Amino acid sequence: MSKPKRYTITAALPYANGPLHLGHIAGAYLPADIYVRYLKSQGHDIAFICGSDEHGAAITLRAKKEGKTPQQIVDENHQIIKKAFEDFGIDFSIYHRTSSPIHHETAAGIFKDLYEKNAFTQETSEQFYDEKEQQFLADRYIIGTCPKCSYDNAYGDQCEKCGSTLSPTDLINPKSAISGNIPVLKETSHWYLPMNEHEDWLRTWLEEGKLDGKFHHDPKSWKKNVLGQCKSWIDNGLQARSITRDLDWGVKVPIEGANGKVLYVWFDAPIGYISATKAWAEQNGKNWEDYWKKEDTELIHFIGKDNIVFHAIIFPIILKAHGDYILPTNVPANEFLNLEGDKISTSRNWAVWLHEYLADFPERQDELRYVLTSIAPETKDSEFTWKDFQARVNNELVAILGNFVNRTVVLTHKYYDGKIPSISNKTDLDDEVLAVIATIQTKVNELLSQFKFRDAQTEAMTLARIGNKYLADTEPWKLIKTDEERVKTILHVSLQICNALSEVFEPFLPATSKKLKAMLNSNEAKLTAGHQINQPTLLFQKIEDDVIEAQIKKLKESNKQQSNPKAKPMKDEITFDDFTKMDIRTGTILTAEKHPDADKLLKMTVDTGIDVRTIVSGIAEHYAPEEVIGKQVSVLINLAPRKIRGIVSQGMILMAEDNEGNLAFVSPERAIDNGGEVR
Ligand code: MF3
Ligand code: ZN
Repeated sequence: MSKPKRYTITAALPYANGPLHLGHIAGAYLPADIYVRYLKSQGHDIAFICGSDEHGAAITLRAKKEGKTPQQIVDENHQIIKKAFEDFGIDFSIYHRTSSPIHHETAAGIFKDLYEKNAFTQETSEQFYDEKEQQFLADRYIIGTCPKCSYDNAYGDQCEKCGSTLSPTDLINPKSAISGNIPVLKETSHWYLPMNEHEDWLRTWLEEGKLDGKFHHDPKSWKKNVLGQCKSWIDNGLQARSITRDLDWGVKVPIEGANGKVLYVWFDAPIGYISATKAWAEQNGKNWEDYWKKEDTELIHFIGKDNIVFHAIIFPIILKAHGDYILPTNVPANEFLNLEGDKISTSRNWAVWLHEYLADFPERQDELRYVLTSIAPETKDSEFTWKDFQARVNNELVAILGNFVNRTVVLTHKYYDGKIPSISNKTDLDDEVLAVIATIQTKVNELLSQFKFRDAQTEAMTLARIGNKYLADTEPWKLIKTDEERVKTILHVSLQICNALSEVFEPFLPATSKKLKAMLNSNEAKLTAGHQINQPTLLFQKIEDDVIEAQIKKLKESNKQQSNPKAKPMKDEITFDDFTKMDIRTGTILTAEKHPDADKLLKMTVDTGIDVRTIVSGIAEHYAPEEVIGKQVSVLINLAPRKIRGIVSQGMILMAEDNEGNLAFVSPERAIDNGGEVR
């Protein structure tokens, strides 16, 4: 294959229904950005495409929930997401949006074209319908119990618990997501993509990397998880998939008589890559068709694993059916990132939001990039914890990379006023170290070209480790008293390592690389003796414990979904042993009378199963004695006896209290032997 001239790199268009969290960044955007920076360093011509996915039920349901219009929702979130990407330093050629006219035009155009080529079938079927809301219920508009895992809130298109792809009619006890109503079935007509007709070429393309009898890509360069998912889809038999919906938010179906119908969001969204490229090309004097229709262009989609089928099967079918478009040569999909021992969840607010991270750490973009790449979920799910974040920053960025650069630059200023000393009488060690620079650069690039970002970054860090070891072994700060010539060579070599670090780390830590190049006062691949460098500045600052504690606290607090805002805050945590010290039993109130000298108190006798005892309780204002006699309740029986207004009370009857101070007994849900343990 001849060397590609051009790359179209896409990163999944995020739904504009909420902000980005670290899972999104680790899954698609950071690896895409690293890859693009690497390609740029190799001099390639690149369109790096992203934008907001602004259609679909994710948006309209959010709008309904917040009492806003879908347009308001996407306008708000598009701005938040776009700004977070900019502040974080993800360097898209364009960050576009699917609500734009050029997108509607492009998506409708491709649909029309395929329609005219008879690439679709039209079918009438019965679908769920919410009579009160007068709306058909497809995808996320319908919820019910998952037939595979029994999760109660599975969507009509997917169960988020077990990941199964579903149809609305698969759901057990389906309910309208808008009203909770039980839906009825009603006839409607839609266009379908007969994916089953595409199985043969898809299999050859995915398994052998051949398209139309020609070499297309090396299937061994694809990740196993991606190929595995595709294969299982095809092995299970592809089915016709409906690509239109009865909704009013989306790209209107461009066919006479299709009133009230829009394109399915997963039909229009990937076309968003094309429309965004058009907008970018227009603004930059490029020809968009070069990036989508020329066979010497490589198209690569960066996504999370939940998007695999859409990018490796459905969108390729659309592109191929059209005929003029190139197909992706790779779809590097990542697995999921978990957070502090649990799945990231937007609805439970168990997430670290990118815009909040940037507000809390406005100067620490590279620290987050570094950690997310170190723990990238490339081959399996991985986990972000704040403690690990702190450890990696302090023990690796500060202690290894930052420390090496700082020592080298400080010594160069101390001994040579910042002028790079010349090299003479190299030892074997010097030669070895200089040679390893080139080896590491080659290795990093090779790993990057294979989408092994985590390993590539580790390799880059190895160079900084080698630098530190070189300084520790040669000890120029001691040698300066005995062998000045030798020190010159050592610092020269160390500075070359610093310079190489600024290059190998560029894709991973672009801001740091820039800082380092500014410190070295150079943009060249090698430094020359006599060159003046600038004053040292610290590349990284240590992260203190209190900063990390604050983040953990914030995460835990925002996670509380407090349904009763007046409920008292939780008491201090206790151990299981603390809990088991309490002996709570079921008991029955046998007698009750008002306390002779206290209006608020009832004096009762209670059968606890192991004895009959007297208990005094402050419930006389809530219950008359005759109301409580015969009730089965929960009793704390090993509470030390207390004298209450002259009567010894031997235990406590458990009561629940509401916001207004009304009381209720905590009674077993059905009659049970007295003396039964409550635990
Ligand atoms: N919005 C989708 C998601 O967040 C991704 C869309 S990718 C595109 O899962 F290709 F369809 F644009
Ligand atoms: Zn399920």
